[in-house]
Amino acid sequence: MKNLLFFACLLLPLGMHAQQEEQRINDLLSKMTLEEKIGQMNQLSYDRSGDLDAGIRSGQIGSLLNIVDPAEVNRLQAIAVKESRLGIPLIIGRDVIHGFKTIFPIPIGQAAAFNPGIVEEGAAIAAAEARSMGVHWTFAPMLDISRDPRWGRLAEGLGEDPYLASVLGSAMVRGFQGKNLSDNTSIAACIKHFVAYGAAEGGRDYNSTNIPPYLMRNVYLPPFKAAVEAGAATLMTSFNDNDGIPASGNTFLLRNVLRDEWKFDGFVVSDWASITEMIAHGFCADPKEAAMKATNAGVDMEMVSRSYIRNLPALIKEGKVSVQTVDEAVRNILRIKFRLGLFDHPYVDVAKPSVLYAEAHLKAAQKAAEESVVLLKNTGVLPLNNTVKTIALIGPMADAPHDQLGTWVFDGEKARTITPLAALQQQYGQQVKINYEKGVAYSRDNNTSGIAAAVKAAQSADVVVAVVGEEAILSGEAHSLAAWELKGAQKQLIAELKKTGKPLVIIVIAGRPLAIQHELDAADAMLYSFHPGTMGGPALAGILFGKVAPSGKLPMTFPKEMGQIPMYYNHNNTGRPFRGNETMIDDIPLEAAQTSLGNSSYYLDAGAAPLFPFGFGLSYSTFDYTNLRLDKTTLKQGETLTATVTLKNTGSYEATEVAQLYIRDLVGSIARPVKELKGFKRVALKAGESAEVSFTLHTDDLAFYGIDMKEVAEPGAFKLWIGGDSNTKLETGFTLE
Ligand code: GLC
Repeated sequence: MKNLLFFACLLLPLGMHAQQEEQRINDLLSKMTLEEKIGQMNQLSYDRSGDLDAGIRSGQIGSLLNIVDPAEVNRLQAIAVKESRLGIPLIIGRDVIHGFKTIFPIPIGQAAAFNPGIVEEGAAIAAAEARSMGVHWTFAPMLDISRDPRWGRLAEGLGEDPYLASVLGSAMVRGFQGKNLSDNTSIAACIKHFVAYGAAEGGRDYNSTNIPPYLMRNVYLPPFKAAVEAGAATLMTSFNDNDGIPASGNTFLLRNVLRDEWKFDGFVVSDWASITEMIAHGFCADPKEAAMKATNAGVDMEMVSRSYIRNLPALIKEGKVSVQTVDEAVRNILRIKFRLGLFDHPYVDVAKPSVLYAEAHLKAAQKAAEESVVLLKNTGVLPLNNTVKTIALIGPMADAPHDQLGTWVFDGEKARTITPLAALQQQYGQQVKINYEKGVAYSRDNNTSGIAAAVKAAQSADVVVAVVGEEAILSGEAHSLAAWELKGAQKQLIAELKKTGKPLVIIVIAGRPLAIQHELDAADAMLYSFHPGTMGGPALAGILFGKVAPSGKLPMTFPKEMGQIPMYYNHNNTGRPFRGNETMIDDIPLEAAQTSLGNSSYYLDAGAAPLFPFGFGLSYSTFDYTNLRLDKTTLKQGETLTATVTLKNTGSYEATEVAQLYIRDLVGSIARPVKELKGFKRVALKAGESAEVSFTLHTDDLAFYGIDMKEVAEPGAFKLWIGGDSNTKLETGFTLE
């Protein structure tokens, strides 16, 4: 009884609060004219034309994006609050994707850290900086699962795995939104792009996707569901059509799934003009039909294409859109404006001391960058020791302050970037001579005239550190690549450096997995750093000299060849799985009989294995996983199971390992993946130290949408692994009753 009373006392205020909140919304709604309601559904991009003032004053504009001048925000907000009839404040949006001024690694890089804490901290810092400049709402996190390195926007995502994206996406939502949306260090998150945008056919941005229902439920929707459960305030529809239905007109996804099943109570915003782009899709005949389909499907706010403000009055008069539908959309928008505290505190406190680039922010960005770096190869040349007296620092990305920040950086400033060159000079310039040569001016540059000087610098060095990769513009929105090797003359630069015979450390700074087989073969060590942001230089310098050991793990599979795409670890087994002993193209005898090679799923010229599997990453130390055991081998529905492994740092460096837990549901009502990540933990160990690392699984963690399209953990046998990447062989098993 006592407990009941306790919880009633706890929940009662929450319930009352929700009731009061809805009361405030309904009170305001009841005073609004139809035009004012439609005005709330209209978002425009800020421009200096001066036309916006009148629209705000007349209540025709409910939101602006792309304004980051606090004084101007306050001026426009004052028009909304003091001069419009009902004084409804604007909500100001901005793409604060991986930092506002202090730029963190691009999200795919943050995902490589396998650290929700670092992601949450980064989002919280971005929120504090953005809100201080008048931004109330960011269009992040991007939760689009991507299995295709051709797609440039994977840079903004959290990789190929639904579990990793769910954990990190939720952490980002919590970071942006903080404890209370109305705090002046919080901003509303916007989970995007709903949904399956990352499955664009051919990796070509904006292209159609064809994700069938089971795959939609088991791979592409889970990160969004997790983020809604984490309290995401808003959601953005995607540009793609899925099986012919553009996301901004997809009633099933926006109403049946998002509202009815998930009880989402925030608001839905379209992507930039994605509503009127339904005309180009051939799904709508004109802006009026687009407005009708999007409103009825459940898109509450239209980003910049003005079809709502221009057509909804007529659509309502013609009975094609109901006032109830408009009221619901406006309620959703007002709910978030109230939660943001905009009615009570509409203005930015411009007198507040600046938090931009605060020391603590820069430190956190450096830590995130350090943890996001993945060591792919090391023959022992790293970490550099005090025998190294001269470094030849070579490459177009060694001192590229703009490009190091990566894609989707609107407000970060290259002047604040600390590059590898600057960091090495600042931190190690006393103990080591650093000879710097670009070799190639920028990542696409085919001009080889600088290679000779680079080779010369290499010849007189103890070690060569070549920093190559991609300019920021080569990833991100609309930046798909059909060939994904190092561009320009970078490959030639590496080949010439290799010829010097000097120890060669290659650092790749890029926005996607690249085809790096040749460079990997040439390297004595390779570090992969997805555009690491403002503090990427100090992070990489510290790793080169062993101040911190690399701990990153790949959040995406690295295929060997483009032709292997799509390639991802959590694939189905097929009826003829790759056995591993297949005949490869160079070993096929002449006039081989048609069926002599066996029939299994692989490429004659590239096999079936990637260059690096999901979850892969080396360290300066080595780790040993032994003694994997379960607290039970038979599980009943609703129970939990604990898996424990002994993890030992068998090397000579203090280092952090990301232990990963995978399962396989051996038989399901539909075929299940050969492995699924269901847990990961960062474990710091001193040299020689061991730890017992445990993971607890609940039967809910085993559930999936099966043949009946119900989310169920089906009885049967499971395999379970714990290891340092998705290829781990340390295996055990259990049965679910
Ligand atoms: C874009 C992007 C979206 C972004 C929006 C506003 O085209 O697809 O991710 O948030 O426009 O800039």
